[in-house]
Amino acid sequence: MRVAIASDHGGLNIRKEIIALMEEMNIDYTDLGCECGTSVDYPDYAIPVAEKVVSGEVDRGILICGTGIGMSIAANKVKGIRCALAHDTFSAKATREHNNTNILAMGERVIGPGLARDIAKVWLTTPFEGGRHELRVNKIRTYEAGQ
Ligand code: RB5
Repeated sequence: MRVAIASDHGGLNIRKEIIALMEEMNIDYTDLGCECGTSVDYPDYAIPVAEKVVSGEVDRGILICGTGIGMSIAANKVKGIRCALAHDTFSAKATREHNNTNILAMGERVIGPGLARDIAKVWLTTPFEGGRHELRVNKIRTYEAGQ
């Protein structure tokens, strides 16, 4: 699996934590920043990650900002993206099984690095269940296709 990861200045520490996790898991990742010397704008990081996912250059994306909310809003504007904001492992597992999410967003001002690592690990390793969930995801795809 190939993963693109990015954060704004508010998500730098958790981004480093998740990069360390992906190295331990032997996951092939691309780090799209930020360099974070100054305050940056989360859409400038969310949209390039989302575009890499929809183009197929990577399979999944992980985005971190202060709350995770800005990143998830911006990523979900890109057609084909199903980005979940998850701050617990139950939601992280369910959103892979039921929603086939292709981007995970988290907020560093909301959770600590240990929980973020557990959430990312569950999200990266849980498969989509398909079946009735595929039909539901397809309804989103159909709506997007008509836009
Ligand atoms: C940056 O101050 C903050 O607004 C950003 O990290 C994020 O929380 C936005 O949703």
